[in-house]
Amino acid sequence: MHYVRKVTNDIYWVGANDHRLALFENIHPIPKGVSYNAYLLLDEQSVLFDTIDWSACRQLLDNIEHLLGDKPLDVLVINHMEPDHGASIEEILLRYPKVKVVSTEKSFMLMRQFGFHIEGHELVEVKEGDTMSFGKHEVTFIAAPMVHWPEAMITFDLTDGVLFSADAFGSFIALDGKLFNDEVNFDRDWIDEARRYYTNIVGKYGPHVQHLLAKAATIVDKINYICPLHGPVWRSDFGYLLDKYQHWSTYEPEDKAVMIAYASMYGNTESVAQALAGKLVERGITNVALYDVSNTHVSYLISEAFRVSHLVLASVTYNLGIYPVMHNFLMDMKALNVQNRMVALIENGSWATKSGDLMQDFLDDEMKQMTVLNQRLSIASSLPSSKEEELDQLADAIADSVRE
Ligand code: FEO
Repeated sequence: MHYVRKVTNDIYWVGANDHRLALFENIHPIPKGVSYNAYLLLDEQSVLFDTIDWSACRQLLDNIEHLLGDKPLDVLVINHMEPDHGASIEEILLRYPKVKVVSTEKSFMLMRQFGFHIEGHELVEVKEGDTMSFGKHEVTFIAAPMVHWPEAMITFDLTDGVLFSADAFGSFIALDGKLFNDEVNFDRDWIDEARRYYTNIVGKYGPHVQHLLAKAATIVDKINYICPLHGPVWRSDFGYLLDKYQHWSTYEPEDKAVMIAYASMYGNTESVAQALAGKLVERGITNVALYDVSNTHVSYLISEAFRVSHLVLASVTYNLGIYPVMHNFLMDMKALNVQNRMVALIENGSWATKSGDLMQDFLDDEMKQMTVLNQRLSIASSLPSSKEEELDQLADAIADSVRE
């Protein structure tokens, strides 16, 4: 059964929702699903902007066939060829062999590298500033390298003010009937998954996103719709979305808030983390979030690390090292360029306690602009009541820093 939605008078959403995929990129859980967005323009020429994941290809074909009927598809614009979008290119070429494929040089190179059979079809390479007319609609192409792969571009429809933004401004969560940002409560229901999508998928490439935002700023007054490859189409509240992207891409915290991430083997480190959370709240710091790193997927931890201003890392010592899942969190933060945060450390060990020094070394030597508070709390197996004063001092130091 086809399922399409109108974006403008002659541009349609022809994508699909996926509730079957458990792990996006085979790594990030997506319990609320994801959408793969593709868009079809019906002008003098018909133009498909991007395809979708192979798993949902049939839905795309039904949708296109519903709108085109017996007519051919004239043009296929590929803004981003990563297989969650590009995997259906071949099937489109088989069904519509005369279609002209428009994309970047790198994109065609990667299509060949992935083994897509594109030879024998009309391939048109475009670059920044090139324009193309399809009848009433004229588009211009804007390079968007590393947002999120090197070949990516975005396409701006000058006629309707539609920005086909590729992965930029996308989100996890299946659309399930909704399409536009004003048909969902984004700030209540979507922002956490939008942040988790951005930070884990594009988070590393903040400077590239900044570069793209600077280009977008020059046309922002002409943009009426932002059509990403995942998540809702934006037709209002651009300021809200751009403000989030500004924070995320400059690694500035969104909230004055404390994330306590703890690694606990027998509950003693967890108990101290809980007590610290309570003491922070008693001091008026109520935006506190507590995570057990052993049972929280690291993509959620990364998302929170981008949101908050302060991190508390509480880890047991394990094989004379940092507890492996905490170490993994640190390595993922480094890989995704998390920086410019205040950090407090809690270490635990029953003998040869090492995790505090090792976490400090990692933050100092491997990451950028991470400031570690002087008040480190060291626990020998468990924290006796007699040492509660040290926990109070740590809570005071964190609360003072949050209030600065
Ligand atoms: Fe949704 Fe970079 O692909």
